[in-house]
Amino acid sequence: MSKVFAVTSGKGGVGKSTLSVGLAFSFCKRDKKVLLVDMDEGLRCLDLMLGMDKLAVLDLSDLLMGRELEDGIYSCETQKNLFLVPAPAKVGMIDAFAFASFAKNVCDMFDVVIFDFPAGINLSLYPCLPKETLFLTVAVPDPVSVRDAAAVGALLCEMGLKARLVINRFVYKQSRKYKEKNIDGIIDSAELRLIGIVPEAEELTMLSLTHRLHRRGKAAAAFGRIVRRLEGESLLLPKIKKI
Ligand SMILES: Nc1ncnc2c1ncn2[C@@H]1O[C@H](COP(=O)(O)OP(=O)(O)OP(=O)(O)O)[C@@H](O)[C@H]1O
Ligand SMILES: [Mg+2]
Repeated sequence: MSKVFAVTSGKGGVGKSTLSVGLAFSFCKRDKKVLLVDMDEGLRCLDLMLGMDKLAVLDLSDLLMGRELEDGIYSCETQKNLFLVPAPAKVGMIDAFAFASFAKNVCDMFDVVIFDFPAGINLSLYPCLPKETLFLTVAVPDPVSVRDAAAVGALLCEMGLKARLVINRFVYKQSRKYKEKNIDGIIDSAELRLIGIVPEAEELTMLSLTHRLHRRGKAAAAFGRIVRRLEGESLLLPKIKKI
C-alpha cells in the first residue's frame, strides 16, 4: 500500500511546494519510488523546482482526458526514483471523477504519492483522494498563516480527513521576541497535531535554481525527521536551537 500525502495551507506562499519537494527527496533517499503531483492549475511550479520544465510537455489534464499514464509521468533526471505529473497550464481542467480514478491508479504504482495543492480549501477534490491520505497543512510563524491553517485543519476534520501541521520557515531567535512565533503558541492556535518543523534555510530559496539539497544541511535534516515520523517512527523534536 502506498503512502499518500496532500500538502495544503490556508495562506499562500508558505512553502507547500518546497515541503513537497523536500519530502520527496527524503523519501527517495530511503529508496522509495515517489510521485509528485502538482495540483496548482495555472500556476504550476514543481517542474521548475525540479529542473524538468523543458521535459514536461503533457500534464495532469492530459492524463485525466485519457492519455496513457506513462506518457505524462516524467522521471526526474537529477533524483533517482522521483517522478512528476505537472499541473495543467490552464485553470478548470481537473474533473473530480477522472481525478479520483487517476489518484487511485497512481497510488497503486508508487511507494509514496504527494499531491501539492494550491492554498485554500478544495472541497471538490479532497474527497477524491484515497481514504488513507494524510493532509500536511503548512503554516509559517505568522498569526495570519497560523489562523488560516487552523481554518483548513478544522474543515479537514469536519470532512473526516486526517491532518497534521508542519511549521515552516522557523527562526529560533525570533521565537523569544514575538509571542506568536513561539512553537507552543503556534501549535495551540493551529489546533493541529505537529509532525515537523522546517527552518528558514537559504538553500530552500534557491531550490528552483539548484534542484537539489545539501545532504547534510539543516533543511534536509528537517525533511528527514518528518519522513521518519511519517514512516511511523516516534521521534522527539530536536532542541529548538538545533532545528
Ligand atoms: N524553509 C524555507 N526557508 C527559506 N525559504 C523558503 C522556505 N520555504 C519556502 N521558502 C521560499 O518561499 C517561497 C514560497 O515557497 P513555495 O512556493 O514552496 O510556497 P507555496 O506554499 O507552495 O506557494 P503557493 O501557495 O503559491 O503554492 C519560495 O521562494 C521558497 O523558496
Ligand atoms: Mg505551491
